[in-house]
Amino acid sequence: MTRLAVFASGKGSNLARILAACQQGTIAGSVVLVVCNEPGAGAVGIARMAGIPVLIADHRDYPSRVAHERAIVHALDEHQVILVVLAGYMRLLSPFLLGYLYDPRMKQSRVISIHPTDPALYQGPAGYAWAIATGQTATAVTVQYVDEGMDTGRIILQEAFAVLLEDTVETLKARGQAIEHRLFPRAIQHVVDRMGSRLSCAAS
Ligand code: GAR
Repeated sequence: MTRLAVFASGKGSNLARILAACQQGTIAGSVVLVVCNEPGAGAVGIARMAGIPVLIADHRDYPSRVAHERAIVHALDEHQVILVVLAGYMRLLSPFLLGYLYDPRMKQSRVISIHPTDPALYQGPAGYAWAIATGQTATAVTVQYVDEGMDTGRIILQEAFAVLLEDTVETLKARGQAIEHRLFPRAIQHVVDRMGSRLSCAAS
């Protein structure tokens, strides 16, 4: 079982889907820690209901980004986390945290994230609002590895879908999140498989 940590800042609908997928066995892993930087976020309640340890680390309480991440790394270490999943975590990760999770066999950090657009077209928050505001006729949900840039890591899975003439941000987001909830567990399992085969290659 791969030991996962999910980082979230928002309502936690992706966290809930990941927990369900772990329970159903469609992800061969278990969420051993949830990290949240927004104390009032819905994700905190979801984690607590599921009996999962939660680190609430409000970045405003720390003197620097590295000090904030040092507290997070301490918890990752304590819970022996192998893979970090950013599920609506609205903070960039610094080289310090990415370095802690760097896997030389994979040649990247063991951190993945979901993004509600095609990152080649838009990087940043509020991707559904961006698609409506800029008159896109199609958009995408993307799961990618995380590097030091904003939504610049290698793509793992992506699914495009149409923006309808009558769409509002809310209707687009509802359709997009239905895709997120299907795509993210699949992408996580893909990475878990890849990590597993790397580990067995290294052992043989
Ligand atoms: C999701 O729509 C995710 O794609 C987005 O935050 C939302 C979190 O929702 N992530 C980003 O915008 C990252 N750039 P949730 O809290 O219900 O899972």
